[in-house]
Amino acid sequence: MESQRRLLIAPSILAADFSDLAGEIRKAETGGAEWLHLDVMDAHFVPNLTFGPFIVSAIRKLTALFLDTHLMITDPIGYAPRFAEAGSDLITFHVEAFENPREAATRIRRSDVKVGASIKPATPPEVLFPLLDALDLVLVMSVEPGFGGQKFMPHALEKIRALRREIDHRRLDTLIEVDGGVDPETAALAREAGVDVLVAGTAVFRAESPARAIAQLRSTM
Ligand code: DX5
Ligand code: ZN
Repeated sequence: MESQRRLLIAPSILAADFSDLAGEIRKAETGGAEWLHLDVMDAHFVPNLTFGPFIVSAIRKLTALFLDTHLMITDPIGYAPRFAEAGSDLITFHVEAFENPREAATRIRRSDVKVGASIKPATPPEVLFPLLDALDLVLVMSVEPGFGGQKFMPHALEKIRALRREIDHRRLDTLIEVDGGVDPETAALAREAGVDVLVAGTAVFRAESPARAIAQLRSTM
């Protein structure tokens, strides 16, 4: 089962050198990454502030990579159209921002993008079960969202396993992504638990060779 699933690598530009974003993105591209992970923070949903649609549209001009946009913001529905217009391919929101996350997924999809839903470390995976069929991806946070460079929380593995079981049982094709503290060692554990997409910031962009780092993440099984 596992070996048949294709592993996708999504370097997070949060750890990149923004004074040479074009060069950094090129490194991810030539290193063989399939996706680029864009961390959007509003200093409200999380205690940090990054960038908005303006930067996403600049990135869109630099690359054909699939733009995986992780919205750590309080109003993802309101801003989804702007990120879609800027060139995001997938927009992931946090279920914690909603009483009815299924409705949020439906409304974001109106912007004609793929839709993901994410859970923070304290949120149980079962919250995602009722909306799995409305999602292209589920994102399991393995650190508290807000900052790069944190340590992988092993209890994320249990959540990945629970989601893998449910998705396979219902024969859905929803992808499972993990984000936070991913390095070759934790990547192997996440892969074994059934993940499809690995997000890695520090491990890729702070490495001497991002290409080698991407290859290492990929060869962990
Ligand atoms: C954290 C972000 C992550 C972060 C991962 O809130 O969602 O995408 O950039 O960075 P590393 O790989 O350094 O843990
Ligand atoms: Zn992220």
